[in-house]
Amino acid sequence: MAGFFHGFVRESLPNYLSNLPIPDTFGGWFRLGFKDWLSLVPPTAIVAGLGYTFYLAFCPHGRPQPSAQANHKIRKNEAKVVDNIDIEDIAEKAAFCRCWKSANWPYCDGSHGQHNKETGDNLGPVVVRKKAA
Ligand code: FES
Repeated sequence: MAGFFHGFVRESLPNYLSNLPIPDTFGGWFRLGFKDWLSLVPPTAIVAGLGYTFYLAFCPHGRPQPSAQANHKIRKNEAKVVDNIDIEDIAEKAAFCRCWKSANWPYCDGSHGQHNKETGDNLGPVVVRKKAA
């Protein structure tokens, strides 16, 4: 393996690069034939792929940054969203939202289903049941 890599880096790659039809002058680009342009496609694709990979890795705006916030809409004017619900107020059972997308907060309205469908996530409510006496 090391011998292959050594031979590739020391001989094959330099030979390949030195045989690429890169003109000495700007006007030489206009005199390249179809096969010349075709032979430039693989190294150009490799350089473009590496460049794009580095761009994604090091450019802060190169890819969407995940939001650190879970709550995007519920009572944003409050420092902390806290809900107190008396167990006596729950008839038989209640489903409470854990995805922060419900329009009926703090109860689940099924919005987690759309979120899961769009993101592949697996969020769901917590269901509280009143024990039968
Ligand atoms: S709507 Fe949020 S868990 Fe169901």
